[in-house]
Amino acid sequence: MPLPYSEIVMEHFRNPRNVGRIEDADAKSVEGSPACGDMVAVYLRVDEENHRITDIKFESYGCASNIATGSIITELAKGKTLEEAKRIDWKDASEALGGLPPIKTHCSVLAVDGLRAAIENYEERHGLVKERQPTTVEEVKKRLKHVMNPVVGLDIVRTQIVSEIEINDGTVRVALDLPQDHQFAAAIRTEILEKLEPRWDVKQVVIEFTD
Ligand code: FES
Repeated sequence: MPLPYSEIVMEHFRNPRNVGRIEDADAKSVEGSPACGDMVAVYLRVDEENHRITDIKFESYGCASNIATGSIITELAKGKTLEEAKRIDWKDASEALGGLPPIKTHCSVLAVDGLRAAIENYEERHGLVKERQPTTVEEVKKRLKHVMNPVVGLDIVRTQIVSEIEINDGTVRVALDLPQDHQFAAAIRTEILEKLEPRWDVKQVVIEFTD
């Protein structure tokens, strides 16, 4: 049976561009797909003066389509300003790849979401967000849905590890149903801090584990 992938997809899958991570990146994101449980991470280096993406890398824990899309969107985004890169969507990626099977749309959406979230992360860290909405419990929950529980490869909200969220005068308290000495406790803690600390009105994030 012939593979449902174009030659270009296969070429990017076999030789993906910009794979890896950027240590001390200016911004990064980790996105997971509820459709399949896969993950993609995107790292950016951005010129502070003109907001152009000078370097971009990605890591994919997804399928061939996801790897190929990660490869193509990082190529498309490199050298663009953040505003230009924001406009890259999965259709651009799919077109540049010579088409993707419809059943694989979510894989390219995942890669594009990763790029957008990394751009958002940069804007938050650098005070570039134009419309500043106050942080709500819903917003915190939305962000925590992007923190993975590595044991099962699903997020910590869906897997009910988050037991309580409270916001009080700039302090966000997140209670987790996870022992402090769990093998992934430190990694989950770091990811939660990365997701919440850049918020403009968050002064402190307190994470509580069970004893
Ligand atoms: Fe999960 Fe493609 S099936 S990213």
